[in-house]
Amino acid sequence: MPVITCIDDLKQLYRRRTPRMFYDYAESGSYTEGTFRANSDDFQRIKLRQKVAVDMTGRTTESTMIGEKVAMPVALAPVGMTGMQSADGEIKAALAAKKFGVPYTLSTMSICSIEDVAEATRHPFWFQLYVMRDEEFVENIIERAKRANCSALVLTLDLQILGQRHKDLKNGLSAPPKLTIPVMLDLATKWRWGIEMLQTKRRSFGNIVGHAKGVGDTRSLMSWTAEQFDPKLDWDKIARIRDLWGGKLILKGINDPDDARRAADFGADAIVVSNHGGRQLDGALSSIRMLPEVVSAVGDQIEIHLDSGIRSGQDVLKALAMGAHGTMIGRSYIYGLGAMGEAGVTKALEVIRKELDITMALCGERDVKELGRQNLLIPKDFL
Ligand code: FNR
Repeated sequence: MPVITCIDDLKQLYRRRTPRMFYDYAESGSYTEGTFRANSDDFQRIKLRQKVAVDMTGRTTESTMIGEKVAMPVALAPVGMTGMQSADGEIKAALAAKKFGVPYTLSTMSICSIEDVAEATRHPFWFQLYVMRDEEFVENIIERAKRANCSALVLTLDLQILGQRHKDLKNGLSAPPKLTIPVMLDLATKWRWGIEMLQTKRRSFGNIVGHAKGVGDTRSLMSWTAEQFDPKLDWDKIARIRDLWGGKLILKGINDPDDARRAADFGADAIVVSNHGGRQLDGALSSIRMLPEVVSAVGDQIEIHLDSGIRSGQDVLKALAMGAHGTMIGRSYIYGLGAMGEAGVTKALEVIRKELDITMALCGERDVKELGRQNLLIPKDFL
């Protein structure tokens, strides 16, 4: 077992152990992948101010996100098909998050269902909703999330039509994968994954198969999903969902100050400044670069979370110092999951917390809640 010291180590191991189709699914952006790359590159352009001779004792990374206590302000973002990266992946990630003390968000497009995760963790998690045309399905899934005691609904607004990812089309991405010759050849070196998959029954979209009208198997699921994302989603529909849900609401996928104002006036509990990890609008600015504009528009009105491009505790620190109250990570924990299952997710969280803690100390701060512009040197072309 190689020594893991950073998120990139987990990524290398993940690449070796997980079928190419699912590695590519995670490690890609839409079209030219320009926004996908910019998301992490722009973090590197922000510099930190070094401070010395400051008492570093008694540091804390603890904070809150939408009023929930967290060991550090980093939630696990919703990631579709997590249960294809590792068997029962959603359960493994949710358990790691529970033990570590950070929120886990289950995607609508997960392999393990809401009920599977609730039963395995016996702990509240956040549920992410994609608004589908089938209103009965939407009403029903909101009820299921309520019954499972989900503590927040994360409504994703930036995927009402799918940004194309070339690799997924070329690989014939599906869950479960079709056993073509290239897939079988790839699996020959990733047999551990294959054995684990044979041992679980959870190999297709658990929130949908058997829950949406006419969707009883994978083939009917594929045609259902293809036409289900609702291109008519507007603020009236969002209000209807808020009323059906009645609990805490996080609006995810805001990357524009006017949209942020609208979300704040609407009365959501938080927004996630995000471009879906560069998987949707290719050509959009990175979310860290949009953050200052969003913070000046609504920073005093609504809790702001940020995702897209976070690969280290230093990145988390930069987002917090620029005005985000919390962050989300997607790929950083998926690398860990594909590399080492639940232990890998825990490892990703530990790596990030340690980096955050040490970097905070070297910046002369002792509390994540006190990070601010005093810690940063921001390039002039940032908004
Ligand atoms: C995602 N993301 C996502 N978002 C969402 O709301 N529902 C979903 O089902 C998915 N699925 C998904 C799959 C994969 C493989 C990835 C990488 C991402 C977006 C996700 O929640 C988050 O916004 C990004 O992952 C953040 O960027 P980083 O941290 O991956 O760079």
